[in-house]
Order: sequence, then C-alpha cells, then structure tokens
Amino acid sequence: MRSLLFVPADSEKKLAKAFDAGADALILDLEDSISHANKPLARNLAHAFLVAHGAKPDRPLLMVRVNALDSSLTDDDLDAVVPARPDAIVLPKAEGGTDVGDLDARLKSREAAHGLSEGSIKIMAIATETARAVFNLGTYQGVSKRLIALTWGGEDLSAAIGAQTNRDENGRYTEPFRLARSLCLFGAVAADAEPIDSVFPAFRDLEGLRRECEEALRDGFTGKMAIHPAQVAVINEIFTPTQAAIAAAQAVVDAFASNPAAGVIGLGGNMLDRPHLIRARRLLARIKS
Ligand code: COA
Ligand code: MG
Repeated sequence: MRSLLFVPADSEKKLAKAFDAGADALILDLEDSISHANKPLARNLAHAFLVAHGAKPDRPLLMVRVNALDSSLTDDDLDAVVPARPDAIVLPKAEGGTDVGDLDARLKSREAAHGLSEGSIKIMAIATETARAVFNLGTYQGVSKRLIALTWGGEDLSAAIGAQTNRDENGRYTEPFRLARSLCLFGAVAADAEPIDSVFPAFRDLEGLRRECEEALRDGFTGKMAIHPAQVAVINEIFTPTQAAIAAAQAVVDAFASNPAAGVIGLGGNMLDRPHLIRARRLLARIKS
C-alpha cells in the first residue's frame, strides 16, 4: 500500500470522488471526521459503498476506520460494516497489542455470524494517539494474523499531551512527535506489519507533502495516508520504487544468489552483507504486491 486516502463516510460527494482517486486503499472514516449526529448516516453510506464497489476488479483496498474501543460506538460500527466485507478495519487510538487482540475477537464472532472466512478482515492500527499508546508500540508482535499495518498520528497525540504545536517553524515535526513516528516504524517492522506514515494535513502544500514522503521513504515507511485526492499522485509517485532502485535491489539479490556460500560480498565498491540482502528482497517484494 503506497497511498491510503481518508474519506469522511457521511459525504456522498467525497465517496463518489474517492473510488477513482488512484489510491491503493480507501479509509472510509466513521471516527473523527464524523459528527456524533452523523454516525448512523456514515455507517449506512459506508455499508452501501462497500456493497457497490466490493466486487469490482482492480479496485483499491476498502478499509473502514471505526470509533475507538473506549467510545462505546465500535460494536455498532462493526455491526454496520462487517456484513459488507471490508478488506480491513482501521483501529484508532490503539494502545497496544491487547487492543488489536480485542478487535480481532470482535471481528471473529462477526465473521462467523455472516459466513465470512475467519481472518478475512484485516486490521491496521493507529498506534500513537495517546501518551500510553507510545509506551506500547513494542507490543504488537504475534497478537493477530490480521494485523497488516501500523501507522501513527500527530494530531490526537498533540491534544493528548497538551502540545502547543507539533511542528517547528520549518514545518518539521517536533521531538515528541518524531519519537512517536520512529517508535511506530520499529513497532511495525517488529510485528511484521507495514509501517505507514501519518497524514500531511496542509493539503494545498504539495511540495511540503513531497518532502515528508521522501523523508518517510528514506526512513523505511512503505506508504502514507492522505486526506485529499490531490495528495494521492504525489504519494504514489514517491513510494513507487524507481527503475534504478529495482535494478540495484535485483543486483544485490543476484550477487548473493551466485555466491551462495558468501556471507559478505563486495559490489560496486560497497560491502554487502545480510541486512543489504534483506532490504533488497523487501523492495522487490513490494513491487510484486
Ligand atoms: N475524499 C474524496 N473527495 C474529497 C476528499 C476526500 N478526502 N477531500 C476533498 N474531496 C473532494 C471535494 O469534495 C471536492 O469535490 P468537488 O470538486 O466535487 O467539489 C474536491 O475533492 C476538491 O476539494 P477541495 O475543495 O479542495 O477541499 P474541501 O475544502 O472540499 O475539503 C477537507 C477539504 C480537508 C475537508 C477534505 O479534504 C476532507 O474531508 N478530507 C478528509 C478528512 C478526514 O477524513 N479526516 C480524518 C483523518 S485525519
Ligand atoms: Mg483522530
């Protein structure tokens, strides 16, 4: 997944625009972008959207962000959308692997009730939205086979800790948020889940978005969430491996394949050992998925 576009699920207009926006995944939102009064409408429209588009070929992944586990809205959200078979549920304000286990159980019973195969609905957790959550980023390993991605958010965390801002005068995240971002990256990789970078809220600033995408790619994130259709093309461009990167990765894999007994190899004046091979394989796997 390179780009994951949020779509407030109470907006017929935005839902209509989203399907062809070019995103690898859509996140139909039932949480923070939906007022309390509009939750039932958003659930109905999300259900209808999944039914209308679920069977189409070559479609984006269809995900639904439900309300947080402590909101008392989660079960109603799941009851509304699970029968329409979303590809994944996005869990906001996750505070560790236990919360993913909790959601896993709620999905399991509903899959059984609706004749869906167990585990078919995946999970992406938003894992840095409270102070407590930040301390639990290392707890996602082995909790659920459904967990395909971890991502982070700076807006709710900012409110949670009472920060005056989460960016400095150059538009870069300040230290507490960079820490959350880094821990999310490590937590995702440790849990064998995709690390997905947070949204870039200034949706008219595509240069700023590009810079943040480049930094995310540099550090190991494999994709980024979007809030506006105009952000999708930039994100897709940056997170699509270039021909040069693919060729370089293939050269590393080939070098080890033709020297099966070697632990370390010199290639083009650089030392290559196991970490380089892992990184190359990971890049090649990404273009196949
Ligand atoms: N998905 C689908 N369509 C979207 C969209 C989205 N996320 N954001 C905007 N659009 C549509 C608009 O409806 C508009 O359609 P139109 O041309 O038919 O009028 C078009 O794209 C251009 O939108 P624009 O006028 O530039 O922005 P806006 O002022 O209408 O909307 C936001 C700005 C931020 C309110 C909107 O982008 C949005 O709702 N984003 C998602 C917010 C969200 O889900 N937040 C939760 C996660 S952090
Ligand atoms: Mg939020």
